[in-house]
Amino acid sequence: MSNIPINETKTINNMEKVLIKDLKNYEGKEVEINGWVANFRSSGKIAFWEIRDGSGFAQAILDVKVLSPEKWEEAQKVTLETSVKIIAEVAKHPKKDEYELHVKDFSFYQIAEEYPIAKKDHGPDFLLDNRHLWLRSSKQWAIQRIRNTLILATYEFFNKNNFIKIDSPILTPSACEGTTELFEIDYFGEQKAYLSQSGQLYLEAAIFSHGRCFDFGPVFRAEKSKTRRHLTEFWMMDAEMAFVNLDENLKIQEDLLRYMVSQVLEKNKLELAMLERDTKPLENITKPFYKITHAQACKKLRELGSDIKDDDDLGGDDETILTKQYDNPIFVTHYPKDVKAFYMKRDEKDPAKVLCADLLAPEGYGEIFGGSQREDNYDELLNRIKEHNLPKEAFDWYLDLRKYGSVPHGGFGFGLERITGWICGVPHIRETIPFPRTINRLAP
Ligand code: 4AD
Ligand code: MG
Repeated sequence: MSNIPINETKTINNMEKVLIKDLKNYEGKEVEINGWVANFRSSGKIAFWEIRDGSGFAQAILDVKVLSPEKWEEAQKVTLETSVKIIAEVAKHPKKDEYELHVKDFSFYQIAEEYPIAKKDHGPDFLLDNRHLWLRSSKQWAIQRIRNTLILATYEFFNKNNFIKIDSPILTPSACEGTTELFEIDYFGEQKAYLSQSGQLYLEAAIFSHGRCFDFGPVFRAEKSKTRRHLTEFWMMDAEMAFVNLDENLKIQEDLLRYMVSQVLEKNKLELAMLERDTKPLENITKPFYKITHAQACKKLRELGSDIKDDDDLGGDDETILTKQYDNPIFVTHYPKDVKAFYMKRDEKDPAKVLCADLLAPEGYGEIFGGSQREDNYDELLNRIKEHNLPKEAFDWYLDLRKYGSVPHGGFGFGLERITGWICGVPHIRETIPFPRTINRLAP
């Protein structure tokens, strides 16, 4: 190990420290760049280092005629992922719209040991075991940048639309979604606690104080699903609004997703190009979303060869087949009551259906948002709790909301990883969360 303590690598000159993303502002100037060597090659007289500094990637050119003989000698020690400080003049690439670093001087922070992730193809298990290193790879870098844009866009959108953020608890005494998917915890030997599946019920309490609220945090599902769409820990955004009907609810969802996608198209051109993402399907987002009922979806699916029945939920495969038919997101509304959660309000016109919608991403991706009108009548809600065999005591507080100034209200939730997966065009959502947890994986 050749560790150089950080405080001993002094600034070589008193150069301005700049980020690679800002190089265009420094053409012809000398700058200091700090980063890692993501790739390197040498012709014997000239060496090229691809430098990654977190903000971007740039090619550094080392010339035997420019560097001192000692520095040129030292440069030969470079390895993949070596950390380095570079003093260089910034120059426009002769052909491409990029800026290069003509190196005047450099010093290594640490010469990296042989890096386990080489350029050759590794299997997914190897990469996931090395997730702490894999995160540095260019595609993984691009995915996390896009995820970050989606988080910021969500906060911005809600801020502009009079929502406030309410932080819902993670340790809860009862289920929000299906009881079969709960992570149970022993709570001081006295009672059971469950890891939250969604903050929705708590947001419903908060809208009576604030009107419109959202939360955004980790949620947990103990589903034994091994699909490319399921994680046991993922980041969910729940939004809830007082005095809205289903149409108004869907309008907000459409505006939100449109804003999120347009922000990525605007801010992450480089990242989308690195992921080789065809952006045409994303550009369609400016057009109105499709809206079909569950019954229409089933009919269409049967035409496409599925054996789905009218009272079945859409399975993952059904969503894949269906959404391949569309070039923009699709709301599927009015699901049968028996496949949805207890809190959804029944449709007066057809009480076997609930006033709900799943928003499915096109190109085979499937459900990214789920939402509904909430049952706001005390007696009806109590019946639903009984029908779902849920313990009434655990929901007394939730029932209270229907006693003191109950109002028509609704909301929705999205899974950040599902949206990121679709926008990035990655097949499995485990790549969209920094450290994925699945039924077979809890590490690193
Ligand atoms: O459809 P879900 O289960 O809805 C709720 O939890 C509601 N309480 C939300 C609300 O109305 N406030 O989950 C919402 C979204 C899904 O549409 C999907 O995008 C994502 O969360 N999701 C998952 N993402 C990754 N792994 C899983 N196991 C997921 N389960 C749901
Ligand atoms: Mg759902």
